[in-house]
Amino acid sequence: MDREETLKKLVVYYSFEGNTKYVAETIAETTGADLLELKLEKEISSKGAMKYFWGGAQVLMKKKPNLRALDKNPQEYDIIFIGTPVWAWTFAPPLNTFFSNVKLKGKKIALFSCNRGQNGKTFRNMKTELENNDIVGTIDFFDPLLNNKEENRTKTKNWAQEIVSSI
Ligand SMILES: Cc1cc2nc3c(=O)[nH]c(=O)nc-3n(C[C@H](O)[C@H](O)[C@H](O)COP(=O)(O)O)c2cc1C
Repeated sequence: MDREETLKKLVVYYSFEGNTKYVAETIAETTGADLLELKLEKEISSKGAMKYFWGGAQVLMKKKPNLRALDKNPQEYDIIFIGTPVWAWTFAPPLNTFFSNVKLKGKKIALFSCNRGQNGKTFRNMKTELENNDIVGTIDFFDPLLNNKEENRTKTKNWAQEIVSSI
């Protein structure tokens, strides 16, 4: 068996409007990784323009919204892809909860994000939270579900394959 087949792979992500979910599912399909979607105990109901005020405030207040119980244990995996939508130039608050509840160490981690053109400090801030791990790659997408969906699917597949083969 190839080394890449013996490594356990996981995709951890949060998605508010489906873009990050689309990338996460494509990574899982390409690499055979398991999926762990971070879900909020209390769903977000803000829609329209209000969602930006509400979401931006959540980031500024460094909120850690409660998550539903995780159905996979990230500690059991070797390679972990972690994905988030960009909110106020950084990762979304559910990831904040994840980073504070799950202390990862010594993992190979690849980061992905979905944004509308301004990734800001997203990866820098995620790397700070994951400082005891080996960050093996980063990639970001501009609303991949809404723009060039098929191209973004190919971009995701190529990147995910590259990450796995490089390890
Ligand atoms: C509260 C909120 C804040 C956002 N802040 C940013 C931002 O700072 N930079 C950016 O490029 N896009 C920003 N966006 C756009 C999203 O990152 C983008 O649409 C992303 O693809 C959504 O991913 P999702 O569908 O997985 O939730 C924001 C969206 C929301 C709802």
